[in-house]
Amino acid sequence: MARSRNRPVLVLHGPNLNLLGTREPAVYGRVSLAEINRAVQRHAAARGARAVCRQSNHEGELVDWIQSAAHEGFQAIVINPGAFTHYSIALRDAIASISVPVVEVHLSNVHAREEFRRRSVIAPAAAGQISGFGPVSYLLGLDAVLQRPTARARAGRRAPRRAARRAP
Ligand code: DQA
Repeated sequence: MARSRNRPVLVLHGPNLNLLGTREPAVYGRVSLAEINRAVQRHAAARGARAVCRQSNHEGELVDWIQSAAHEGFQAIVINPGAFTHYSIALRDAIASISVPVVEVHLSNVHAREEFRRRSVIAPAAAGQISGFGPVSYLLGLDAVLQRPTARARAGRRAPRRAARRAP
């Protein structure tokens, strides 16, 4: 996919995702975060893109990374906000404040779990949400953001050259 060549993508993992592999394996499986990150990086590289993966248990650190994504040169963000999904207005506002496209991903199918997990305060500010495919959710999220045209391509498309009108 020529469009995605060298596109740096920021992959963010929220709280408790550092414990993947041992955390509630019946829900989240036995794959560790390091293994997911390697799979994400391989997947990105195979598509001519580059994934940088970061995890934090701290809301403010995630907000800082979202705010500085464009400045750091990232063209898209894939984020699993963990439990922040369900109540962090700060993360939602950070995502709404940037022009970098953001895709929300979840390992588990949040819509098939407890009532409180069915609501995402992030989703309305994101380009879309992928949920329920285990570690593959991240790869699908990556594919989704890599399909989106870059801001530069969008700007180019918005300013079409005026075609000479044919006389009727
Ligand atoms: C999760 C779902 C959230 O409800 C939960 O708090 C997580 C993980 C997921 O990937 O399935 O930490 O985001």
